[in-house]
Amino acid sequence: MFATTRPSGTTQEVYRELCRQARGLFDGERDAIANAANLAALLYGGLAGVNWAGFYFLKGEQLVLGPFQGNPACVRISVGTGVCGTAAHRKEAIVVTDVAKFSGHIACDSASRSEVVVPLLLHGRLLGVLDLDSPELDRFREEDRTGLETLAALWVESSDPL
Ligand code: SME
Repeated sequence: MFATTRPSGTTQEVYRELCRQARGLFDGERDAIANAANLAALLYGGLAGVNWAGFYFLKGEQLVLGPFQGNPACVRISVGTGVCGTAAHRKEAIVVTDVAKFSGHIACDSASRSEVVVPLLLHGRLLGVLDLDSPELDRFREEDRTGLETLAALWVESSDPL
């Protein structure tokens, strides 16, 4: 078992520490699923106010559920649909301050109030998305987006393509 502690401090300090812990977890391991599973667990346990953290991987025109922490979730999301599919289509991160106001939001957990989705990109090619939900409105800010983009890039560079 690897002991990880929930980091404290400013948002930037929290993500700096999460990156340090992620590097430790990925060290010597290039299996994409194993590294995704550990990153999902690290984010779920390491960030306050998060009720779902996990991966969807691109298979054809659909995003298919990967490793995650939280309640069971919808398995397949078409690219262009919901927050995940929109971020995948745009190949851009999306921060949703209130999911009720995002037209087409897919409610996997009725407790979720805000969400952030970051694309997983390998030299511009979409591999999937990293998705985090919160039961709090307006939980995710710009610094969360940049912190999660850094962690997503770290997962991509640390893992062999699926
Ligand atoms: N809310 C997402 C679906 C995935 S769950 O949040 C885990 C969406 O609208 O794409």
